[in-house]
Amino acid sequence: MQTTNFSQFNIPSIVWASPPPTITMLRGKTTSSRRLSPPYSVASSTSRHQVTHSMPPEKVEIFKSLEPWVSEYVLPFRKPVEKCWQPIEFLPDPSQGPEQFEEEVRALRQRTSRLSDEYFVVLVGNMLTEDALPTYQTLFNTWDGVRDETGSSPCPWAIWTRAWSAEENRHGDLLRTYLYLSGRVDMLMVDKTLQYSIGAGIDIGLENNPYMGFVYTSFQERATFLTHGNMGKLAIEGGDPVLARICGTIAADEKRHENAYTRIIEKLLEVDPNTTMIAIAYMMRKRITMPLHLMYDGQDPNIFSHFSAIAQKQGVYTSRDYAEILEFFITIWKLEKLEGLTTGEARRAQDFVCRLPQFFITKWVLEKLEALTGEARRAQDFVCRLPRKIRRLENQSKKLESRSTKFSWIFNKQVNV
Ligand SMILES: [Fe+2]
Ligand SMILES: [Fe+2]
Repeated sequence: MQTTNFSQFNIPSIVWASPPPTITMLRGKTTSSRRLSPPYSVASSTSRHQVTHSMPPEKVEIFKSLEPWVSEYVLPFRKPVEKCWQPIEFLPDPSQGPEQFEEEVRALRQRTSRLSDEYFVVLVGNMLTEDALPTYQTLFNTWDGVRDETGSSPCPWAIWTRAWSAEENRHGDLLRTYLYLSGRVDMLMVDKTLQYSIGAGIDIGLENNPYMGFVYTSFQERATFLTHGNMGKLAIEGGDPVLARICGTIAADEKRHENAYTRIIEKLLEVDPNTTMIAIAYMMRKRITMPLHLMYDGQDPNIFSHFSAIAQKQGVYTSRDYAEILEFFITIWKLEKLEGLTTGEARRAQDFVCRLPQFFITKWVLEKLEALTGEARRAQDFVCRLPRKIRRLENQSKKLESRSTKFSWIFNKQVNV
């Protein structure tokens, strides 16, 4: 299969010595170019990635030629509607009469009353990430060679995207209704955030390029699989087994989606290894940014980084997870042993990607150490003869202790980030 060394895929500094990527999902600052300037300036001046159509037109033929393969190997990952769960199966059912309904709502509120505010911040963030589905379906339909040209195209790529969207739509609906009934969150602010966020869109730089797009979706589905799974574990610990079952059920869907997208990348690695390997490295270098990174609630311009920090602190999604996701893909795509790489650029891309997990694991360890403020204080004592160092440590320590913020989603209650 022909490979093309197109300029947008060049990774000139893709060597281990180059500055490693950072994770936007993690604690840390949102870069100014990604920070949402309230209320609506995102899509224009702050966007970093406005490269379009980076895939050479002749590559469209590859995706065209894969259509029968998609029908045979990807479409079976859809679940027939009649076999799918629906939100009402997990929710109080109003058709059962007012008393039964009220009883079920009371029980739901009782269960959720034991969960922490931090848990609800993360659950709202996850729900919004699901509920911003129009943004994702729009994004997928910008990818050359696989987009839905008509809205109901019979092309297998388009059939998959519509079916995926229809399945995903249940996730946001279920979580949203559950949150609403719990009474634990300020739905006015949650809904405002959703409206702002869908209005802002997404700026992750996929360049209409399906190679990059399917790398992104593979990563993202696995990340959501882990996230919902971890939320389920926390719900069990917090005393809400129904919510745990909800999170587990959604996680199972994400796993199935992950299988579909990773299968696509596996196939692309087979038919066009150079381009696919370079796309994987390119996405890793750019960072896999969580989809709702432009979220805004009308109040906090850093709400995404605050939400991400709480998710990290709750152990729902950490840099360790990021590293493990990478390791997982390196293994299942057999990237270390990948054959057929015929260009130096592709081999450098392979080397870069295969070394990344260790970097993120080291980063995670360092973050753990940083979180041990007691350690910082002992270090402060140790260097007490060095006044400048002491002052610096004191400031750092205060910073760590004072990192709390109000969250509009939970009625402006203060939470530590
Ligand atoms: Fe989902
Ligand atoms: Fe999914």
